[in-house]
Amino acid sequence: MNVLDFQTRKRDRDKISMVTCYDFWSAQILARTDIDCLLVGDSLAMVMHGHESTVFADVDLMALHIKAVARGAPGKFIVGDMPFLAARKGLEIAMNAVQALMQAGANAVKIEGEAGQKELMAHIVESGVPLMGHLGLTPQSVHGFGGHKVQGRSDRAAEQLLQSAQAVAEAGCFALVLECVPAQLAARVSRSIDIPTIGIGAGPETDGQVLVLHDMLGMNPDFKPKFLRHYANGFDVVSQAVNRFHEETRHGCFPAKSESYA
Ligand code: KIV
Repeated sequence: MNVLDFQTRKRDRDKISMVTCYDFWSAQILARTDIDCLLVGDSLAMVMHGHESTVFADVDLMALHIKAVARGAPGKFIVGDMPFLAARKGLEIAMNAVQALMQAGANAVKIEGEAGQKELMAHIVESGVPLMGHLGLTPQSVHGFGGHKVQGRSDRAAEQLLQSAQAVAEAGCFALVLECVPAQLAARVSRSIDIPTIGIGAGPETDGQVLVLHDMLGMNPDFKPKFLRHYANGFDVVSQAVNRFHEETRHGCFPAKSESYA
């Protein structure tokens, strides 16, 4: 997968799969799967570091995780998230952030939102950096949205989203994440632009799907928003294995002779 393949996949109606990846060991596993693309999302602030929202990620943290993922999955197409406000403090700071993420090993960067940053987006693309857009429920704006709410429900909001999607495509982005928008609107957006849309909570008619790896693996059984499908029961797998090790250690049946040095 390289940046040109995204266009081909849309043209051929061949859906794109993406999952988040934040560290070396899961990157090594994902490197041996069929997944098309890895996203070092700023959701790592929540999933890996226990923060309440993604606003706590910064450029250094993103670069640290991108480096680990790039070491674990050097053959995969890796997208790194521009963290909170990194694109909003002027051109130089934004471009320094882009440089840090790309030099950490990303193949592309992703920016949330469109309003007020179309020129910056075009500049990033003109600088030779593949750029992915992100519209709908953009989690860095969670405080402005008053919570994690589905976006684009009113006619006005839907129209605004369609216009922003058009602007993202015109700025030269190679793909667009649509998060938590009504399925019909996501389908309209996907038909109206010529770059692929990758949905999360955006219904089945986007050109691809993305999920947070830990969520799809069922690592937190209490987190089950409507759009999420659990592909494994990771919480039970891990806790049962650890409890078995604990019991076998206590009863002296681990390690066995065959697991010990002579
Ligand atoms: O940070 C992230 O994980 C994301 C996905 C939810 C698209 O941006």
